[in-house]
Amino acid sequence: MKFFIDTANIDEIREANALGVLAGVTTNPSLVAKEGVSFHERLKEITDEVDGSVSAEVIAEDAEGMIEEGKELAAIAPNITVKVPMTLEGLKAVKRFSELNIKTNVTLIFSANQALLAARAGASYVSPFLGRLDDIGQEGIDLVSQISEIFDRHAIDTEIIAASVRHPVHVTDAALHGAHIATIPFKVLDQLVKHPLTDQGIEKFLSDWNRQK
Ligand code: E4P
Repeated sequence: MKFFIDTANIDEIREANALGVLAGVTTNPSLVAKEGVSFHERLKEITDEVDGSVSAEVIAEDAEGMIEEGKELAAIAPNITVKVPMTLEGLKAVKRFSELNIKTNVTLIFSANQALLAARAGASYVSPFLGRLDDIGQEGIDLVSQISEIFDRHAIDTEIIAASVRHPVHVTDAALHGAHIATIPFKVLDQLVKHPLTDQGIEKFLSDWNRQK
């Protein structure tokens, strides 16, 4: 499983990229709005920093509008992936983007059938939202499992991005249940690095080292 970072914050993206584990970036309108910057300028900065896929979401709700917006986003850099919501109009747009060789990430996936439809329409990625399913009392990870099994069984090469990741257990579960990618907030990346026994171990090694002579 690969790691994407789920943020539009350029400092977080640079810091994550320096770790050598970053395969891409996902953004959404809420994450961009939080930054209070020009969307296109920020996307340029991000694509200058990161070689992997950078998901940029369309705002339009009709297929024509999505296609226009998506083309503009895709023109920013070759590694832009157009993020499209899972709707009938979204599927039409995905089909068109696929004909234009523009990569797509179908977002707001909450059922295996939605994922299958998105894949058949030509999506490069599907994003099942773990945390938001957990929030309403459903096991988000079961959805990743189902999608993974269906894609394997039918030899579908659309990649599964585990999204709406809230904590390290989501990350381990996503890897175990067949997600190709987990897109994680910077806070979760930081939590993945840390372990109290690692910190204690370092402290003990250093104190033993300093006691010698
Ligand atoms: C990423 O593609 C999604 O937009 C994001 O993970 C959603 O996360 P949230 O449910 O924490 O807002």
